[in-house]
Amino acid sequence: MSTIVSPSVLSADFANLERDIKMLNSSNADWIHIDIMDGVFVPNISFGIPVMKAIHQHANKPLDVHLMIANADPYITDFKDAGASILTVHYEACTHLHRTLQTIKNAGMKTGVALNPHTPVHLLEGMLEFIDVVLIMSVNPGFGGQHFIPATLDKVKALRGMIDQQKSATIIEVDGGVNAETGQRLVQNGADALVAGSYVFKGKNPGDRIETLRTL
Ligand code: DX5
Ligand code: ZN
Repeated sequence: MSTIVSPSVLSADFANLERDIKMLNSSNADWIHIDIMDGVFVPNISFGIPVMKAIHQHANKPLDVHLMIANADPYITDFKDAGASILTVHYEACTHLHRTLQTIKNAGMKTGVALNPHTPVHLLEGMLEFIDVVLIMSVNPGFGGQHFIPATLDKVKALRGMIDQQKSATIIEVDGGVNAETGQRLVQNGADALVAGSYVFKGKNPGDRIETLRTL
């Protein structure tokens, strides 16, 4: 089975979003990764729901929405209305994670939980049945173009073991510093899905780069 590829729009040309989304539509990308940052949970502000709606108008692939915001609960149905298929919240930002995941599921979206580099995977041990996608951060969230943190590989391996042992269908997605080389090591360690911003959009031929990641 090929690796799921979710190019991150954070590295797209914001003045030409329609063009870049259409490029992704005609590529072999599986999902489109949308990074929402609030300047509180992470030290950066990206874009919000109106821009996401504009992306959704043009996109013909599922929107894989990564919330880096301190308080997701009041906005869950807004993100559904804006076109999210997968809604990922950060473990570190959710006091009542189980309740938040139920709300996401009841709103008709797939549930995602993101883990910062310092957050161990075993914290999710009893929660896998409620989680469709675990998003392991391989950089500190907030910015594109950072270097991959190698310790991520052990986390992916440990989570793969946990998922297989529980015969769970949860998908392991990894985000940050992904390129052909780090991507290959991630897939070898059990990653199912790769997010890539700079590697895809800064390449001469983004479609080829997407294909490279898919066939790792
Ligand atoms: C970082 C974001 C990523 C970012 C990845 O906080 O969550 O999705 O776009 O960018 P690259 O692939 O350039 O590391
Ligand atoms: Zn992301």
